[in-house]
Amino acid sequence: MVSIAQETSFDEAEIFQLYDSVGWQPWTRDIARVCRSLVNSHLVLVARDEDGRLLGLARTVSDDELVCYVQELLVDKRFHGQGIGRQLLERLKERYAHCRYFMLTTDHESTPEGAANHAFYRRMGLIEHHEQGLSAFGLRVGNS
Ligand SMILES: CC(C)(COP(=O)(O)OP(=O)(O)OC[C@H]1O[C@@H](n2cnc3c(N)ncnc32)[C@H](O)[C@@H]1OP(=O)(O)O)[C@@H](O)C(=O)NCCC(=O)NCCS
Repeated sequence: MVSIAQETSFDEAEIFQLYDSVGWQPWTRDIARVCRSLVNSHLVLVARDEDGRLLGLARTVSDDELVCYVQELLVDKRFHGQGIGRQLLERLKERYAHCRYFMLTTDHESTPEGAANHAFYRRMGLIEHHEQGLSAFGLRVGNS
């Protein structure tokens, strides 16, 4: 049984284990910063099993009116393919259904991570920007 709930405080060791399981080294290099980013997010939904074990997490940056950015969605690698990512994203889609835009950025489809993510997001009904007449622009600021 998986429970999904909002959380507002975070244990660094637990968060490290989750992010490390999917190989997100730019994040695990400074896990205190990741925990600060979680605290500063609009919403963090956490998936746990009945023993309280952390299974996955999704967080948003939003004005709660016009736009919701899904900034991270990850499931512990040991529990992929069990519907946990779907539950987290469905909950976010419901929560932000009143917003005009529900968006996210992920790796390009030509990368191994991107190929898997695109398959997941398409399965979840999301549509790439260029298929909606949109483009995304970005600027890398700072070195970290
Ligand atoms: C992407 C990720 C969150 C998916 O979570 P998950 O719990 O494994 O996915 P689910 O089991 O909920 O899958 C939901 C649906 O997507 C499909 N799906 C998931 N991954 C897929 C893949 N690699 N290829 C094809 N379909 C896939 C599932 O078959 C499932 O379809 P169904 O519900 O219709 O049967 C997870 O793989 C992950 O944490 N990856 C590493 C971190 C990451 O890259 N996050 C996304 C970028 S921010």
